[in-house]
Amino acid sequence: MTQQAISTYSPANEAAALADFLAAYPGYQTTAHLDDLREREYGRLDAQNHVYLDYTGGGLYAESQLRDHMALLQANVFGNPHSHNPTSLAMTELVERTRTAVLRYFNADPNDYCVIFTPNASGALKLVGESYPFCSDSRYILAADDHNSVNGIREFARAHGATVHYAPLTSPDLRIDQVALEQLLNEADPSHSNLFAFPAQSNYSGVKHPLELVAHARAKGWDVLLDCAAFAPTNRLDLTAVQPDFAAFSFYKIFGYPTGLGALIARRDALKRLRRPWFAGGTVKIVSVSAFGHYLAEDEAGFEDGTINYLGIPAIEMGLRHIESVGIESITERVRCLTGWLLEQLGNLHHSNGRSLAQIHGPNNLDMRGGTITISFFDRDSTPISGQLVENLAARENISLRTGCFCNPGAGETSFCLPQSTMQAMFAAAKGMHFHELVDAVYQRHGIDVSAVRVSVGLVTNFADVYRLLQFVAGFLDKTAVSLAGTQQTAVLYTRDTP
Ligand SMILES: Cc1ncc(COP(=O)(O)O)c(C=O)c1O
Repeated sequence: MTQQAISTYSPANEAAALADFLAAYPGYQTTAHLDDLREREYGRLDAQNHVYLDYTGGGLYAESQLRDHMALLQANVFGNPHSHNPTSLAMTELVERTRTAVLRYFNADPNDYCVIFTPNASGALKLVGESYPFCSDSRYILAADDHNSVNGIREFARAHGATVHYAPLTSPDLRIDQVALEQLLNEADPSHSNLFAFPAQSNYSGVKHPLELVAHARAKGWDVLLDCAAFAPTNRLDLTAVQPDFAAFSFYKIFGYPTGLGALIARRDALKRLRRPWFAGGTVKIVSVSAFGHYLAEDEAGFEDGTINYLGIPAIEMGLRHIESVGIESITERVRCLTGWLLEQLGNLHHSNGRSLAQIHGPNNLDMRGGTITISFFDRDSTPISGQLVENLAARENISLRTGCFCNPGAGETSFCLPQSTMQAMFAAAKGMHFHELVDAVYQRHGIDVSAVRVSVGLVTNFADVYRLLQFVAGFLDKTAVSLAGTQQTAVLYTRDTP
């Protein structure tokens, strides 16, 4: 596509742009069955004219997943599992079948791994954090690119006197600094319990961190917690090949429905080293009040507090079957093509004075990255166009994208080169601070808008979706942030940061 046409995204130019795209990314055509799938199973997107670009926030479900799940519930009588009455036994069988299906999907040997159902990935991460045998000689290393639900484990580590270190990111690519990580891994005393946690894929930059780090750290005696929440929806994860001690997931991110279910897939030997800080109904063999004693249940049962979401769990197998029928490799390929094109096109957008419209946070090519793209936009005078304004304007076009720091403060702090002293000053405020206040304070001090814009492509994203996004952002060309804001209130939108 010519430079001239790039700045004139319009419905009239879409066919020519598609032809250019297909010539540059022929692999896209091998995923044509996803277009049929979109029409059949996700018709609501086009019927309601939605451009959904928040797959890292949440996946979308196929209509058949809902039908199959409702049909199962309508045709059966299910009781609370783990009893011996017929309705309970029927449910237990389905829950256990789902565990087997999850292990099979991730190619995890049931002799080595077990599945613990949790409310979400955060629930899985917390189970590890609260139960890990941290002591004053332990280390907890995490990537600066971790989600807050992994960052939060540092509080458990610190409460037990463990030393916490972040492996920094390189700038501007936002990849884990391998030299610094190596040093941190080597500093630990392997005779104590040491935990290393990192995301298989960043929910901020889309960077795919090397999965080889798992074996590397384990060979040095570390336990490894792999956060797979942002990776699993668009990539095959083979646990037999990767062998983490713990892997955390949210199922709604993979196939949209049901929400409220995630899993911790844990190596059975690593699970035995965890110490649960409490017990609950379902996690014990027996408890005595007078003797003040309890025996914890073994394996997954010891980690599933109270009644699990038993009616929802069979929908996981349906969701996995859905992804298997589509083929995760097709999803990876489609995401790769659309991401590559989007990155190129965003990079080509310049105001007529030559200044760039968009700055990508993280890799601006397809090397070891997924379909999550975080962007800052600048007007013709290079003044930031606030994330909040972009989100408001996008909403008018029925485009769903996300703004903020996406619960991943470390990636943002690195990408925006925020000095530690600035961040420390923010945490000296006695009354605390919301994200929008931090955005304002950093803007006042450094003239940087740290509320970036994130778009993420997934299962049924098509060319038309990314074209509409480009058409939308090309509308910023040659404008000022003030003129774009127009009568828009720049009042606070953020009440909390979101995933
Ligand atoms: C990389 C990563 N880890 C953890 C989470 C937390 O997932 P959940 O909110 O489903 O617990 C998210 C959510 O976006 C994520 O992207």
